[in-house]
Amino acid sequence: MSTLFVFSVFLLLSVATLCVGYDYFMLAETWPKSYCNYQSQTGGRLCYGTVPKHFTIHGLWPEEWTRQIHNCNATNTLNQTHIQPVRRQLTAFWPNLNGNDFSFWKFEWDKHGTCSENSFAQLPYFQLALNIKGRINLLKMLSQDQIVPDNRKSYNTTSVIDAIRKGTNHAPQLDCYVQRTNNVTILAEVRLCLDVNGTSYINCPNPSGSCATTDLYWPKP
Ligand SMILES: *[C@@H]1O[C@H](CO)[C@@H](O)[C@H](O)[C@H]1NC(C)=O
Ligand SMILES: *[C@@H]1O[C@H](CO)[C@@H](O)[C@H](O)[C@H]1NC(C)=O
Ligand SMILES: *[C@@H]1O[C@H](CO)[C@@H](O)[C@H](O)[C@H]1NC(C)=O
Ligand SMILES: *[C@@H]1O[C@H](CO)[C@@H](O)[C@H](O)[C@H]1NC(C)=O
Ligand SMILES: *[C@@H]1O[C@H](CO)[C@@H](O)[C@H](O)[C@H]1NC(C)=O
Repeated sequence: MSTLFVFSVFLLLSVATLCVGYDYFMLAETWPKSYCNYQSQTGGRLCYGTVPKHFTIHGLWPEEWTRQIHNCNATNTLNQTHIQPVRRQLTAFWPNLNGNDFSFWKFEWDKHGTCSENSFAQLPYFQLALNIKGRINLLKMLSQDQIVPDNRKSYNTTSVIDAIRKGTNHAPQLDCYVQRTNNVTILAEVRLCLDVNGTSYINCPNPSGSCATTDLYWPKP
């Protein structure tokens, strides 16, 4: 009887997992100045216009703990009409810094959004990303610990992680790149992790991410 019970619970869990198909969400927020400098360094497409002085959305990524998932449904491509209701907000908070906005949203939806399509269709997925972004102001949270963009000063990676942890009660994940001219580590992204419904924060894996060194720089726009 207890075996049957365990088996039933196992079945239920399997079914639940099948329906969702991912373990958690990661919202990646870009620091535009770093992204644009990186494009220059790597010979990528240069940014145009004024570099935003706030974090912008890179993507909302359904993730699994043990493997990479992407491009989950090639048939379900992003349709302009579906996201029309939030287009204005997307332009403001999820801009393509060096290309066409819609092609960026389409790339992110096709690659990542399709992996949570059973829980979040196109419009709800973009609404969720905007909603998570709107819940906290990373810039303000970091400044409360005297961590502000500065071209001369470096910050201890641990204290950047701790400043965000204080605000969300959970570990973020940072992303960096190495600036070739002077071999210093540059903060490029802050990522927040949430449960499958996008409701509560959870700890991200590997908080220091690609920012392996102790010191990182956060360039002023
Ligand atoms: C893929 O997306 C299409 C179009 O939205 C949908 O009809 C189909 O059911 C999806 N496939 C799977 C396996 O979910
Ligand atoms: C996009 O969605 C609209 C509204 O649902 C629909 O009329 C249109 O055919 C769709 N476009 C494409 C290319 O699927
Ligand atoms: C970085 O900060 C952490 C905690 O805030 C501290 O324990 C550590 O010693 C610092 N590392 C350096 C190199 O300053
Ligand atoms: C760049 O910096 C890292 C860490 O500070 C150091 O280990 C490495 O040797 C440096 N590389 C060069 C080419 O200076
Ligand atoms: C997500 O929402 C579903 C439906 O409301 C609920 O059954 C599930 O427990 C929630 N999952 C988490 C991790 O909160």
